[in-house]
Amino acid sequence: MKVVMLGAPGAGKGTQAKKIAAKYNIPHISTGDIFRANIKNGTELGKKAKTYMDQGLLVPDELVVDLVVDRVNQEDCADGYVLDGFPRTIPQAEALTKALASQGQKLDYAIDVDVPDENIVRRMSGRRACVGCGATYHLEYAPTKKEGICDVCGGELILRDDDKPETVEKRLGVYHEQTQPLIDYYTNAGILKRVDGTVDIEEVFQAVVQILGE
Ligand code: AP5
Ligand code: MG
Repeated sequence: MKVVMLGAPGAGKGTQAKKIAAKYNIPHISTGDIFRANIKNGTELGKKAKTYMDQGLLVPDELVVDLVVDRVNQEDCADGYVLDGFPRTIPQAEALTKALASQGQKLDYAIDVDVPDENIVRRMSGRRACVGCGATYHLEYAPTKKEGICDVCGGELILRDDDKPETVEKRLGVYHEQTQPLIDYYTNAGILKRVDGTVDIEEVFQAVVQILGE
């Protein structure tokens, strides 16, 4: 099963993608997580990506496409995967369609997690991410058992650099301009599904499972 998660920054793509990966036993591939790991490790890719990410801008397509195409061609992706944060532009979507078609493959579902802009800024300011394992929490909606400490690995929790309100506003603008057109793209491909992302995390996941099957 090959699934793409669509939705605004903070809509809950990562939250749902992790649950999909666990239930259907497929890899979760987040381009945002890949870039953050590269930044943390001080790689060339990380240095380049950071200058864009810190401003709330998209990393150029040419730094993203080959990375993802290589990743989905790895062996653990043979039974499918859930892509989170890719594609994010029409050229990225076209490149993915083409790369899959060259192997006689195609995506099965594009799931749009729908959350209005008003809810987003509030969500982002409460998000906390583990520096150790990348697990995501929310001060109000998905709290840890012990304040400031990751439930999974005991790591320290931080606010992401790009989750400051002014950067979130910028990311939302970029989303509407460059990423939202993918909704039409995947509607035309006949694979778009939409879930209401404003309800609680488990309820959103139930709607996702209705789409993907038990
Ligand atoms: P990326 O990491 O993908 O960020 P994003 O799209 O802005 O999305 P987020 O990760 O912020 O949100 P999410 O939808 O995953 O929400 P989450 O589940 O965490 O990308 C970062 C940057 O990298 C980009 O800005 C760009 O520069 C670059 N980049 C990445 N991919 C790229 C690409 N393909 N091309 C170019 N550049 C690229 O949830 C948010 C919070 O809400 C959490 O605290 C969560 O606990 C909480 N929450 C989730 N669901 C619910 C719910 N139902 N109710 C209440 N709270 C909830
Ligand atoms: Mg995410």
